Amino acid sequence: RPRDAVVVAIDGPSGTGKSSTSRAVATELGLRYLDTGAMYRAMTWWMLANQIDPGDPVAVATASGKPVLLSGTDPLAPTISVDGADVSGPIRSEEVTAAVSAVSAVPEVRSRLVELQRAAVAAAASAGGIVVEGRDIGTTVVPDATVKIYLNASPEARAARRNGELTGARAVGVEATREALVRRDAADSGRKVSPLAKAEDAVEIDTTDLTLDQVIEAVVGLVERRRRER
Ligand code: DC
Repeated sequence: RPRDAVVVAIDGPSGTGKSSTSRAVATELGLRYLDTGAMYRAMTWWMLANQIDPGDPVAVATASGKPVLLSGTDPLAPTISVDGADVSGPIRSEEVTAAVSAVSAVPEVRSRLVELQRAAVAAAASAGGIVVEGRDIGTTVVPDATVKIYLNASPEARAARRNGELTGARAVGVEATREALVRRDAADSGRKVSPLAKAEDAVEIDTTDLTLDQVIEAVVGLVERRRRER
Protein backbone atom coordinates (compact mmCIF):
# COMPACT_ATOMS: atom_id res chain seq x y z
CA ARG A 1 0.00 0.00 0.00
CA PRO A 2 1.36 3.50 -0.81
CA ARG A 3 2.86 5.15 2.29
CA ASP A 4 0.35 8.01 2.36
CA ALA A 5 -2.77 5.87 1.84
CA VAL A 6 -5.02 5.98 4.90
CA VAL A 7 -7.15 3.10 6.17
CA VAL A 8 -9.68 3.94 8.88
CA ALA A 9 -11.19 0.88 10.58
CA ILE A 10 -14.51 1.53 12.36
CA ASP A 11 -15.96 -1.34 14.40
CA GLY A 12 -18.71 -1.70 16.98
CA PRO A 13 -22.20 -3.07 17.55
CA SER A 14 -25.26 -1.83 15.64
CA GLY A 15 -26.97 1.41 16.52
CA THR A 16 -23.81 3.26 17.52
CA GLY A 17 -23.87 5.54 14.45
CA LYS A 18 -21.19 3.52 12.65
CA SER A 19 -22.54 3.93 9.10
CA SER A 20 -23.42 7.63 9.35
CA THR A 21 -20.06 8.37 10.97
CA SER A 22 -18.06 6.29 8.48
CA ARG A 23 -19.71 7.83 5.41
CA ALA A 24 -19.32 11.38 6.71
CA VAL A 25 -15.66 10.85 7.66
CA ALA A 26 -14.91 9.35 4.24
CA THR A 27 -16.66 12.24 2.50
CA GLU A 28 -14.90 14.88 4.58
CA LEU A 29 -11.45 13.33 4.09
CA GLY A 30 -11.93 12.41 0.42
CA LEU A 31 -11.64 8.66 1.03
CA ARG A 32 -13.54 5.66 -0.33
CA TYR A 33 -16.06 3.85 1.90
CA LEU A 34 -16.79 0.16 2.44
CA ASP A 35 -19.76 -1.18 4.44
CA THR A 36 -18.80 -4.78 5.23
CA GLY A 37 -22.11 -5.41 7.03
CA ALA A 38 -23.83 -4.83 3.68
CA MET A 39 -21.69 -7.64 2.22
CA TYR A 40 -22.79 -10.11 4.95
CA ARG A 41 -26.36 -8.94 4.38
CA ALA A 42 -26.05 -9.44 0.59
CA MET A 43 -24.70 -12.97 1.13
CA THR A 44 -27.65 -13.65 3.47
CA TRP A 45 -30.14 -12.18 0.99
CA TRP A 46 -28.81 -14.50 -1.71
CA MET A 47 -29.09 -17.57 0.58
CA LEU A 48 -32.75 -16.72 1.34
CA ALA A 49 -33.51 -16.02 -2.34
CA ASN A 50 -32.08 -19.43 -3.24
CA GLN A 51 -33.94 -21.37 -0.54
CA ILE A 52 -30.77 -22.16 1.40
CA ASP A 53 -31.50 -22.50 5.13
CA PRO A 54 -29.40 -19.88 6.98
CA GLY A 55 -29.45 -22.22 9.99
CA ASP A 56 -27.65 -24.97 8.05
CA PRO A 57 -23.93 -24.06 8.18
CA VAL A 58 -22.90 -26.87 5.81
CA ALA A 59 -25.38 -25.77 3.12
CA VAL A 60 -24.36 -22.12 3.61
CA ALA A 61 -20.65 -22.99 3.38
CA THR A 62 -21.15 -25.05 0.23
CA ALA A 63 -23.13 -22.29 -1.51
CA SER A 64 -21.03 -19.35 -0.29
CA GLY A 65 -18.77 -19.29 -3.35
CA LYS A 66 -21.63 -18.88 -5.81
CA PRO A 67 -22.97 -15.30 -5.57
CA VAL A 68 -20.90 -12.57 -7.25
CA LEU A 69 -20.77 -9.58 -4.89
CA LEU A 70 -19.78 -6.10 -5.95
CA SER A 71 -19.47 -3.10 -3.59
CA GLY A 72 -19.54 0.50 -4.86
CA THR A 73 -17.27 2.55 -2.55
CA ASP A 74 -18.45 6.13 -3.16
CA PRO A 75 -19.33 7.42 0.35
CA LEU A 76 -22.07 9.65 -1.12
CA ALA A 77 -23.74 6.77 -2.97
CA PRO A 78 -22.64 3.36 -1.67
CA THR A 79 -24.08 0.41 -3.59
CA ILE A 80 -24.05 -3.37 -3.31
CA SER A 81 -25.00 -5.80 -6.05
CA VAL A 82 -25.36 -9.57 -6.24
CA ASP A 83 -24.99 -11.23 -9.64
CA GLY A 84 -25.36 -7.81 -11.26
CA ALA A 85 -28.59 -6.80 -9.48
CA ASP A 86 -28.62 -3.93 -6.97
CA VAL A 87 -29.80 -5.26 -3.59
CA SER A 88 -29.24 -2.11 -1.49
CA GLY A 89 -32.94 -2.05 -0.50
CA PRO A 90 -33.73 -5.75 0.07
CA ILE A 91 -30.67 -6.33 2.30
CA ARG A 92 -32.29 -4.10 4.96
CA SER A 93 -35.41 -6.29 5.28
CA GLU A 94 -36.35 -7.88 8.63
CA GLU A 95 -35.87 -11.34 7.11
CA VAL A 96 -32.25 -10.59 6.23
CA THR A 97 -31.59 -8.87 9.57
CA ALA A 98 -32.92 -11.92 11.45
CA ALA A 99 -30.73 -14.38 9.49
CA VAL A 100 -27.49 -12.44 9.02
CA SER A 101 -25.79 -13.42 12.30
CA ALA A 102 -26.10 -17.13 11.47
CA VAL A 103 -24.75 -16.70 7.94
CA SER A 104 -21.89 -14.46 9.08
CA ALA A 105 -20.76 -17.06 11.64
CA VAL A 106 -19.88 -19.55 8.87
CA PRO A 107 -16.07 -19.59 8.36
CA GLU A 108 -16.29 -20.07 4.56
CA VAL A 109 -18.51 -17.00 4.27
CA ARG A 110 -16.07 -14.95 6.31
CA SER A 111 -12.93 -16.02 4.46
CA ARG A 112 -14.55 -15.25 1.11
CA LEU A 113 -15.82 -11.81 2.19
CA VAL A 114 -12.59 -10.87 4.00
CA GLU A 115 -10.74 -11.58 0.74
CA LEU A 116 -13.10 -9.23 -1.15
CA GLN A 117 -12.75 -6.60 1.59
CA ARG A 118 -8.94 -6.68 1.43
CA ALA A 119 -9.13 -6.34 -2.37
CA ALA A 120 -11.32 -3.22 -1.96
CA VAL A 121 -8.80 -1.77 0.52
CA ALA A 122 -5.94 -2.41 -1.92
CA ALA A 123 -7.90 -0.89 -4.82
CA ALA A 124 -8.64 2.27 -2.79
CA ALA A 125 -4.98 2.87 -1.94
CA SER A 126 -4.33 4.76 -5.17
CA ALA A 127 -7.39 6.95 -4.38
CA GLY A 128 -5.89 8.03 -1.03
CA GLY A 129 -7.45 5.36 1.14
CA ILE A 130 -10.70 4.12 2.59
CA VAL A 131 -12.96 4.02 5.63
CA VAL A 132 -14.03 0.43 6.36
CA GLU A 133 -16.83 -0.29 8.83
CA GLY A 134 -17.82 -3.61 10.40
CA ARG A 135 -17.22 -5.85 13.40
CA ASP A 136 -13.74 -7.31 12.80
CA ILE A 137 -11.99 -4.70 10.66
CA GLY A 138 -9.35 -3.64 13.19
CA THR A 139 -8.83 -7.17 14.51
CA THR A 140 -8.88 -9.28 11.33
CA VAL A 141 -9.51 -7.55 8.00
CA VAL A 142 -6.96 -4.70 8.26
CA PRO A 143 -4.90 -5.26 11.43
CA ASP A 144 -2.40 -2.63 10.19
CA ALA A 145 -5.05 0.08 9.67
CA THR A 146 -3.85 3.68 10.09
CA VAL A 147 -6.53 4.47 12.67
CA LYS A 148 -8.81 2.05 14.52
CA ILE A 149 -12.03 3.24 16.12
CA TYR A 150 -14.43 1.24 18.28
CA LEU A 151 -17.84 2.91 18.60
CA ASN A 152 -20.04 1.91 21.50
CA ALA A 153 -23.24 3.15 23.18
CA SER A 154 -25.73 1.97 25.79
CA PRO A 155 -28.24 -0.65 24.57
CA GLU A 156 -31.05 1.87 25.21
CA ALA A 157 -29.46 4.55 23.03
CA ARG A 158 -28.71 2.03 20.29
CA ALA A 159 -32.28 0.68 20.29
CA ALA A 160 -33.71 4.21 20.17
CA ARG A 161 -31.52 5.06 17.16
CA ARG A 162 -32.30 1.81 15.34
CA ASN A 163 -35.99 2.33 15.98
CA GLY A 164 -35.80 5.81 14.52
CA GLU A 165 -34.45 4.25 11.33
CA LEU A 166 -37.46 1.94 10.99
CA THR A 167 -40.61 3.68 9.85
CA GLY A 168 -44.32 2.94 9.47
CA ALA A 169 -45.28 -0.71 9.67
CA ARG A 170 -41.69 -1.67 10.37
CA ALA A 171 -41.50 0.37 13.59
CA VAL A 172 -41.86 -2.27 16.29
CA GLY A 173 -41.33 -0.35 19.54
CA VAL A 174 -38.07 0.45 21.30
CA GLU A 175 -38.31 -2.51 23.68
CA ALA A 176 -38.65 -5.11 20.89
CA THR A 177 -35.84 -3.41 18.98
CA ARG A 178 -33.63 -3.49 22.08
CA GLU A 179 -34.22 -7.21 22.56
CA ALA A 180 -33.49 -8.06 18.92
CA LEU A 181 -30.38 -5.89 18.98
CA VAL A 182 -28.99 -7.38 22.19
CA ARG A 183 -29.62 -10.87 20.78
CA ARG A 184 -27.80 -10.10 17.52
CA ASP A 185 -24.85 -8.49 19.37
CA ALA A 186 -24.55 -11.54 21.62
CA ALA A 187 -24.45 -13.81 18.56
CA ASP A 188 -21.92 -11.54 16.78
CA SER A 189 -19.71 -11.27 19.89
CA GLY A 190 -19.97 -14.93 20.84
CA ARG A 191 -19.13 -16.64 17.54
CA LYS A 192 -15.89 -18.56 17.14
CA VAL A 193 -14.46 -16.88 14.02
CA SER A 194 -13.63 -13.14 14.15
CA PRO A 195 -16.22 -12.10 16.72
CA LEU A 196 -17.21 -8.47 17.25
CA ALA A 197 -14.33 -7.18 19.37
CA LYS A 198 -12.37 -4.03 20.11
CA ALA A 199 -8.81 -4.24 18.80
CA GLU A 200 -6.23 -3.67 21.53
CA ASP A 201 -4.98 -0.52 19.79
CA ALA A 202 -8.42 0.88 18.89
CA VAL A 203 -9.69 4.16 20.29
CA GLU A 204 -13.07 3.58 21.93
CA ILE A 205 -15.72 6.30 21.62
CA ASP A 206 -18.94 6.04 23.62
CA THR A 207 -21.54 7.80 21.47
CA THR A 208 -24.42 7.56 23.99
CA ASP A 209 -24.37 11.27 24.84
CA LEU A 210 -22.69 12.62 21.70
CA THR A 211 -24.28 14.09 18.59
CA LEU A 212 -23.37 12.64 15.21
CA ASP A 213 -21.37 15.79 14.42
CA GLN A 214 -19.35 15.40 17.61
CA VAL A 215 -18.47 11.80 16.75
CA ILE A 216 -17.49 12.74 13.18
CA GLU A 217 -15.32 15.57 14.48
CA ALA A 218 -13.58 13.25 16.95
CA VAL A 219 -12.78 10.64 14.28
CA VAL A 220 -11.63 13.20 11.68
CA GLY A 221 -9.41 14.74 14.37
CA LEU A 222 -7.80 11.38 15.15
CA VAL A 223 -7.12 10.65 11.47
CA GLU A 224 -5.61 14.09 10.88
CA ARG A 225 -3.38 13.81 13.92
CA ARG A 226 -2.15 10.38 12.81
CA ARG A 227 -1.49 11.75 9.32
CA ARG A 228 0.65 14.57 10.73
CA GLU A 229 2.63 12.09 12.85
CA ARG A 230 3.67 10.08 9.81
O1 DC B 1 -23.63 -3.50 10.36
P1 DC B 1 -24.83 -4.37 9.99
O2 DC B 1 -25.90 -4.38 11.03
O3 DC B 1 -25.36 -4.07 8.64
O4 DC B 1 -24.21 -5.85 9.93
C1 DC B 1 -25.01 -6.95 9.66
C2 DC B 1 -24.46 -8.21 10.29
O5 DC B 1 -23.28 -8.63 9.62
C3 DC B 1 -24.11 -8.13 11.78
O6 DC B 1 -25.14 -8.67 12.58
C4 DC B 1 -22.86 -8.96 11.93
C5 DC B 1 -22.35 -9.17 10.54
N1 DC B 1 -21.04 -8.56 10.30
C6 DC B 1 -19.93 -9.29 10.59
O7 DC B 1 -20.04 -10.42 11.09
N2 DC B 1 -18.69 -8.80 10.31
C7 DC B 1 -18.54 -7.57 9.78
N3 DC B 1 -17.31 -7.11 9.51
C8 DC B 1 -19.68 -6.78 9.50
C9 DC B 1 -20.93 -7.30 9.78
